[in-house]
Amino acid sequence: AQVADLRAALLAWYDDHRRTLAWRSDPGAAPDPYRVWLSEVMLQQTTTAHATPYFRAFTTRWPTVSDLAAAEDGEVMAAWAGLGYYARARNLLACARAVADGHDGVFPDTETGLLALPGVGAYTAAAVAAIAFERPANVVDGNVERVMARLFAVEVPLPAAKPELWRLAGSLVAGDRPGDWAQALMDLGATVCRPGRPLCERCPLTEWCAGFQSGQPDRYPLKAAK
Ligand code: ADE
Repeated sequence: AQVADLRAALLAWYDDHRRTLAWRSDPGAAPDPYRVWLSEVMLQQTTTAHATPYFRAFTTRWPTVSDLAAAEDGEVMAAWAGLGYYARARNLLACARAVADGHDGVFPDTETGLLALPGVGAYTAAAVAAIAFERPANVVDGNVERVMARLFAVEVPLPAAKPELWRLAGSLVAGDRPGDWAQALMDLGATVCRPGRPLCERCPLTEWCAGFQSGQPDRYPLKAAK
C-alpha cells in the first residue's frame, strides 16, 4: 500500500503544518465555496502573501457571491487594481453574475458544473470541487508539478512533461480528504519542496521520493534548453 502510506504521511504532515490563510476555514469547518473560488482566482495571479489583503478587502465589501454580482464593474476593477490582468477581474464578475442569476447564488458542486461557468478553467474547477465540495479532483498548479517531478524523478523537461506530471498527480488522488490533500500538496510545494533547493530534511515524503533518493532533488523539474 505504497500510495496509501504516502497519502497518510502527507495528510498527517498537513495536520501539523497547515498554514493559516485568510480563505481557509478552521479544520473541520465547512468551507464557503465563494471564498474558495475567489481565493483560487486571485492565487492564479499572485502569491498567497500578495493576495491576502485583496481577499480580505473583497470579502469585507462583498461577503457573498450575490453581493459581488451586484457590484458595479468599475468598483470591482478598482478593487482588483494591483492584482494585475484585468481580464481576470472581468471573468470574475461574469462568473459571479452567472452563479447569482443562473444558480440562485449557489455554486455548482461538481467539477463539470463548475467548468461550465464563465472564466472557470480546469485548475479553478478542480480546486473548488476538491476544497469546497470534497470531490476527488486532480488539482495541479506549478507547485504540484514540481512536487511530482521530484517525487517520481521525471526525466522529461517542462513543459513537455506536463501530461505525465498530471497523470502522476492523479494517481495519488483518492476519496479520503480531497480538499486537504490538494492543499497539503500546495503547502508542501510552497514551503518544503520549494523552487530551488528543497528542504528535504523537513519533508514527510522522502521515503517515497525518487528525487531525494537520487541525491539531486533540485535537478527536478528539468527545463527544456532555451
Ligand atoms: N495556491 C493556490 N491555491 C492555494 C491554496 N488553497 N492554499 C495554498 N496555496 C494555494
